[in-house]
Amino acid sequence: MRTLTLDRILQSQGFGSRKYCRDLIADGEVTIAGTACTDYRTAFTPDGLRFTLFDEEWQYREHVYIALHKPANFECSRKPSHHPGVLTVLPEQFTWRDVQPVGRLDHDTTGLLLMSDDGPFIHAQSSPKRHVPKLYRATTHDPVTPALVQQLLAGVQLHDEPAPLSAISCTAVGDHLLEIVLEQGKYHQVKRMLAAAGNHCSALQRTAIGGLTLASLHLEEGEWCYLETEQLQALSPQSAAPGTSCT
Ligand code: URA
Repeated sequence: MRTLTLDRILQSQGFGSRKYCRDLIADGEVTIAGTACTDYRTAFTPDGLRFTLFDEEWQYREHVYIALHKPANFECSRKPSHHPGVLTVLPEQFTWRDVQPVGRLDHDTTGLLLMSDDGPFIHAQSSPKRHVPKLYRATTHDPVTPALVQQLLAGVQLHDEPAPLSAISCTAVGDHLLEIVLEQGKYHQVKRMLAAAGNHCSALQRTAIGGLTLASLHLEEGEWCYLETEQLQALSPQSAAPGTSCT
């Protein structure tokens, strides 16, 4: 089984440069199984290794898969311009690990945002070929009518799109509240579809991706958690019920 020296383990987890990690270790800041390990050359099998740094417990992870309950007024872009980037909500070592959002939510959209440092995972999840349904709760400026729901289900033509885009499902859940499931992830898609249907989206929250719901994660706005195997499996197109679901 592969082993890594402690300085390399810390560096791989985003705790800083090799030199900085060696200094942390020499200063007795890193504890393993209750004992400070002060020799950076000590080798461990990294998988599953638990260590304490600055009195906080961590577990080695080759890659991280994160769900964030995105608050409003944070940008998903790599170079945020008008609002802070979503990475500023997470512990600093995730920036060192090059964690990136999987796809984008608008700065004013809240809800479920996946983040990872696993390039192939990000690529696969963001692929338009993947057809993972995403559930949104949209607050509308004008009342929701049966005609609006029908229009969104039948398809609306957006500027710059070759063909009309339709919702997989669309349900009025309040006078001014819609639940809408989309498979594509076009730029401002929910807002543009509502505008094309003659209404206006005044607030938007993403509440599920595939079979992974925000409610199941129990995260307040601004909170995050690691996603474990079962939750990652819920992101596959197969785990959402056909036609809708994001149950
Ligand atoms: N559709 C939008 O209009 N905005 C988002 O952030 C996500 C989907």
